[in-house]
Amino acid sequence: MANEFEIKKQICEIGKRIYDRGMVAANDGNISVKLNDNEFLCTPTGVSKGFMTPEYICKVDKDGNVLQANGSFKPSSEIKMHMRVYKCRPDVGSVVHAHPTFATAFAIAGIPLTAPIMPEAVIALGCVPIAEYGTPSTMEIPDAVEKYLPYYDAVLLENHGALSYSVDLLSAYHKMESLEFYAELLYKARQLGGPKELSQEQVKRLYEIRRKFGLPGKHPANLCAELGGKCNGGCHGNCGSKAASETSSQDLEKIVAEVTKKILSQM
Ligand code: 13P
Repeated sequence: MANEFEIKKQICEIGKRIYDRGMVAANDGNISVKLNDNEFLCTPTGVSKGFMTPEYICKVDKDGNVLQANGSFKPSSEIKMHMRVYKCRPDVGSVVHAHPTFATAFAIAGIPLTAPIMPEAVIALGCVPIAEYGTPSTMEIPDAVEKYLPYYDAVLLENHGALSYSVDLLSAYHKMESLEFYAELLYKARQLGGPKELSQEQVKRLYEIRRKFGLPGKHPANLCAELGGKCNGGCHGNCGSKAASETSSQDLEKIVAEVTKKILSQM
């Protein structure tokens, strides 16, 4: 792992990127990186993430208590949300919170990002659910987000924004970029009359590719394998797994047989 000063510089660089790409306005958004089980670097509260220098970055313990901060800088007001992610997901090394326009518009409209519309989004991102609204800076947000953490690598925050996390800072940031790109495509496709979604068979093949790549993180492809196809619609409308498609075609056959029997009995 890079030394602490290098990581602080990387946090500033990613802060500048999310600001320059319009993923945060004014002083919005926050970023953190795990150093070890009890030391985390995070952005300070109330500053523009586009203009930070390494001295801005604070250090906290696993409960969000300050270990080190320069001058009047205090850790992000959302540090509890970041800490909940690290607590529930030991595989996570970095967390990014932003308010990207399209993703946040979906979070405000109450529409989760679960439509399978393009291969890259299905493979790399998976599905993005919406965590119930919570008042910023309170425990309501970590509490709302917690139940989604074991199954997803990105979550929309209702009427608020988006949260992404991954093994390291660059991957967590890329997840935010992919999420926003996907949300923008979905929004625009809806303007053009609605997306033509990938079929269950196509999704199934993409899940197989994802499993073959052995990509880190949580994804419907793994979730479906773990749950044997019983993921209750927590993915792209189906499990993309053999078990799920077999079950659904068997169910379909059963329904067709029952309806046919009913019609025939009424003739
Ligand atoms: P902080 O500046 O305290 O990190 O808060 C920004 C934000 O976006 C809150 O949701």
